[in-house]
Amino acid sequence: MSCGTCHNLSNGFTDNGLVFSINDIGAPTIRNSSPLFNLAWTDKGFFWDGRAMTLEEAINDAINNEQHPEWETTLLDIQADDTYELEFAKAFEDAKVDQTNVVKAISSFVRTLISKDSKYDLSVRGQATLTPLEQEGFDLVFTTERGDCFHCHGVYPFMTDNDFHDNGLQDVNAIAAYDDQGLGGFNGVSTDIGKMKAPPLRNLSYTAPYMHDGRLTTLDEVIDFYSEGVHATPNVDPLMKQALQGGVQLNAQEKAALKAFLLTLDDPTFISNEDYESPF
Ligand code: HEC
Ligand code: HEC
Repeated sequence: MSCGTCHNLSNGFTDNGLVFSINDIGAPTIRNSSPLFNLAWTDKGFFWDGRAMTLEEAINDAINNEQHPEWETTLLDIQADDTYELEFAKAFEDAKVDQTNVVKAISSFVRTLISKDSKYDLSVRGQATLTPLEQEGFDLVFTTERGDCFHCHGVYPFMTDNDFHDNGLQDVNAIAAYDDQGLGGFNGVSTDIGKMKAPPLRNLSYTAPYMHDGRLTTLDEVIDFYSEGVHATPNVDPLMKQALQGGVQLNAQEKAALKAFLLTLDDPTFISNEDYESPF
């Protein structure tokens, strides 16, 4: 099974609209497949729960975890393929087709996956202008704290702070009740339970469904969630300032503006970049 099975270019390297993916031995993954771009700058941990610190660790983990729990058989297949033998001899001094070099090769490729040419990026570079509605949505996200998204998703150009937060998604009122403990489940710190990696607000048109468990199907559902569906969970982030009121309470016009702005972060040149297409 290739990485591309669950990380498809035209879906921003997520899994074809699926909530969960099916791995090489037919088992479902426990979380929604992550988008893969701009990961060269990830500095606070990979996966929804932060269980890998470096990209190499993350790729190794993806191979042994999401992809195939008994990876040795796949490695034998790769070693039996002459193409890889030749290519690895060109790329590595030791010419070995082993797991270390496979991880290095995949990591090097993943670092080249860069999304930077959305309409919003062009507007930052003075090459496009946002419509009034898009501009209003931008103001909701950034300039005022009205929409309150920028604390976690506002670091340009990534549109995520790459950090871990509890955004009040899970409907729980006790630490023990979180269905998915996220970062806290990995590091054992009780105040980190329920925290997930904040995903980038890029390419959202291509990466549905949303959230670590794919529970939200459309962008409208995401906006409704932040507007009036937020739960005051035990570890809810202090930056979710209106969690006690259930969210930031946007009216219909503001919701439309927020959505219009989010769509300016789609990068069609990224998902059609031939350099990223499967060579097979
Ligand atoms: C069976 C489907 C599946 C396969 C195959 C798969 N992945 Fe994933 N990938 C996922 C899922 C699901 C997640 C989220 C898992 C989590 O956070 O617990 C993920 C997360 C990741 C992440 C973390 C991204 C981030 O933002 O932190 C990276 C990197 C990644 N995969 C790379 C790969 C690579 C490289 C391969 C091939 C070696 C691969 N994956 C194969 C489903 C898959
Ligand atoms: C306190 C930090 C924080 C704030 C503020 C915040 N988010 Fe998030 N956002 C997150 C986290 C963490 C997740 C992942 C949660 C999960 O999956 O359990 C997320 C997920 C998302 C997703 C899903 C992306 C995907 O690939 O699945 C979207 C879209 C999103 N947020 C948009 C927004 C918008 C719009 C706002 C403002 C109205 C906002 N966020 C405010 C932290 C935040």
